[in-house]
Formats: sequence, C-alpha cells, structure tokens
Amino acid sequence: MDAGATEPTLVGTRIVLGVTGSIAAYKAVSLLRTLVREGATVDVAMTRSAAKFITPLTFEVLSGRPVTADLFEAHQEMKHLTLSEETDAIVVAPATANFLAKAALGLGDDLLSTMLLTAQCPLICAPAMDGGMWTHPTVAAHVQTLRERGVTVVDPEEGPLASGRSGQGRLAEEKRILDAVRAALARKFDWQGHRILVSAGPTQEPIDPVRYISNRSSGKMGYALAEAARARGAQVVLVTGPTSVPVPHGVEVVSVETADEMTRALATRLSWSTVVIMAAAVADFRPKRAASHKLKKQGTTEATLDLERTTDILAALSAMRTTQLLVGFAAETQNLRAHAEEKLKSKGLDLIVANDVTQPGAGFGSEQNAATLVDRHGGVTVLALRPKRELADDILDAARRLLTGVPSPRPVPAATEGQ
Ligand code: CTP
Repeated sequence: MDAGATEPTLVGTRIVLGVTGSIAAYKAVSLLRTLVREGATVDVAMTRSAAKFITPLTFEVLSGRPVTADLFEAHQEMKHLTLSEETDAIVVAPATANFLAKAALGLGDDLLSTMLLTAQCPLICAPAMDGGMWTHPTVAAHVQTLRERGVTVVDPEEGPLASGRSGQGRLAEEKRILDAVRAALARKFDWQGHRILVSAGPTQEPIDPVRYISNRSSGKMGYALAEAARARGAQVVLVTGPTSVPVPHGVEVVSVETADEMTRALATRLSWSTVVIMAAAVADFRPKRAASHKLKKQGTTEATLDLERTTDILAALSAMRTTQLLVGFAAETQNLRAHAEEKLKSKGLDLIVANDVTQPGAGFGSEQNAATLVDRHGGVTVLALRPKRELADDILDAARRLLTGVPSPRPVPAATEGQ
C-alpha cells in the first residue's frame, strides 16, 4: 500500500521495527516496505514467537540489513545498547499483550524488550490481539502504564479477528501507525534549546504549625508537563508544592510550600526561562496570621479564620516578563471557554489550558484529563479525555505552534472577537 506517500518522508531517520508473535506479523512486511520507501533505515528486531509466523529472511531482504532476534547470539554482542543508541524511534507492530506486559513491567528477556530498557528514543506500539484480550483489565492497565510514561499506543481497530470473532483487536491501519511515527519524530528534541519553568501541585498556607489550607491538586499534570518537556529536549525546572509524585528524570526540582515561596521561586527564575507553564493550584487565600503555637480547642465552640489574598503569581509574572511565553491553567466547573478566555486576557497569557473539573475521570488526582486550549489568537483546540502525559505533549505542541507562528489547527472565529 502507498500509505502516507504524500506526507513528509523519513529520509535520514533510523528506526527499529519490533515484530512480535501475532498473526498480524505479516502486516509488518508492508509497514517495513513503506518505512524504507520513505527513506528510513530500518533494523528489524523480532521476538522468537514472531519468527514462527514469518521468517527473518523476509525482513532481511526487504530491509537490506541483518535481522536481530536473539540477545545472546555471539555476533549480537551489546546489540541492545548500540541499536537503541543509534535509533530515532522504535516501532513495535504488531505488539502482543505479552510484549505490552513486558514493556510496562521492564522485563528484558530478548533483544527487543531489553532494548526498551536502554532506549531514550520515542516508542510507538501498535497492538494486535483478540478483542477479549485488548479489553482485559490487565492489558488495559499495562497500556495505561505505557501511555503515562509517554509511549504512543496506536489503538487497534474494530473488525473481524483471526479467532473468527469480531471486536477491537485488529492492528491499526498502516497510515495511522505511520502518522504516529511521524508525530513522535517531530516531537523529538523539538524543545531543545528551551528553558521551561513549570509549576505543579498545591500550595499549603499555614494556620498554625500543624494545620494548613490547601486543595486537592495531586501535581500529576505539572509533573507530566515537566517530564514531556524534558523528553523533548528542554531544560526544565519544576517548582512544586507538596506532592507524592516521583520526580521526573533529568528535571531540576525546587520544593516550596506556600504561595509566597512559589512566587519567589518562580520570579527569580523567570529571566532564565523561555517558557513558563503554571500548572500549580495556588491557594487564592491564606490565613492573615499563622499562629506560632498549635491552636487549642479548649474553651471554644466556634472559630473563624481571617483570610487574605495571595499574590496572583501568573499575573505578577505576566507583568514582569520580557520574551517568555506564558501558559496558564483554569480549573472550572461551568462556562469553561468563557472563563478561560477571560483569564487569558486578564492575566495577559499566550495560552490557557482549561479543564472541567466536574467531568468524571478527569481533573484533580485523576490519571487522565480533558482540556480546552485557548490561545492568544483565539485558536481553540478541544482535547478529549486522555492520560495526563499524553495531554502534556498536546499542550507542548500548542505552545510550540505559538512560538513558531504556526496557527492552531482549529481557530474558531467567534473567539477572536473583541481581541
Ligand atoms: N494562579 C496563580 N496565582 C494564584 C492563583 C492561581 O498564578 N494565586 C494561576 C494558576 O496556577 C493557574 C491560573 O492562575 O495557572 C488559574 O487562574 P485563576 O484565575 O487563579 O483560577 P482560579 O484560582 O481557579 O480562579 P477563580 O477562583 O477566579 O476561578
């Protein structure tokens, strides 16, 4: 097939095509031919069970390169290291349930799975399996883990399956796999040279030495943004309120507790940064005075707290900034887009990420989120529910478009009125 022939080519790229033991392994032959035709240098890494469905010789002839299957073959010494270092992207198509489990858990018992443990490049998996397997909670959990780690999983399609049944399990159309490869390659190092300041998590505003005012933010969205920006080549400083999220690899972390501390941490780093992404859920109010000793309840049946406003950090950064791109968030429960547009303007932002925190499965604490992105030109992008790590990449794509002057894919004329 001639999938994607009119799209940009893959000239100069090096790709590892992983083939695992599914009846759909034969489709990898066509994918290999297309990748080669588009200019990629392709090394095929097969699993032992894939070789039961199709011979390595087929791939060797079509790729013009030796096919690697066994981690322990004498001439493959350290191949899992050298191959992954030289590779721009790893594409596993078809990916079996067993492979997805190994990739999610970090098991390395053959060349392909071991390579994943050393590879720094994007990984794209196109699963193929029986419908009942694809929807099995174990498989779904592994897919979720991989997506949270930034792996692109190209969902299988509905239709007749090898078992004679029908369901979701057919390997995705070649064009969808190729599009995913191109998107992953386009994102690779596209933020190199940028210094991104990300804020995350809640702030805690002390009432006394043991109590504070805070909110339900888990910090996951900000951490996912920091991780995605780092993976795409940016230098990242993450200014974070208290969370239990693991620190992303290669990201410098500055821990703060209060809105005041967060303001200082961000303001002092503003001139260093090229982009600021304000994902933190900053407390809008704090107790006027924090008691120096624990407040005792004895003798009191009622109590009131005197509160005062904290600094609006985004607005302050917006007033101080020179060339930095500013991205804000808006957690809303109603009139999502109108509130987002209002905040974008009032705070002088370039991009705002608005999410409806009442939507089931999205928002605070959740692994997933949906968002409406509104940019300073009135471009609007609606992103349906997806893992926060995936959403992070989409937000970075939108910010990148603003930096490079490429219009948002879906500008909505109504939103530009009054600008
Ligand atoms: N923000 C900030 N400083 C604050 C409060 C919020 O920088 N003191 C940032 C958040 O990090 C987020 C954006 O502002 O990027 C949210 O805008 P905001 O208008 O403060 O939202 P809410 O706090 O939800 O405001 P409201 O209660 O008016 O909806």
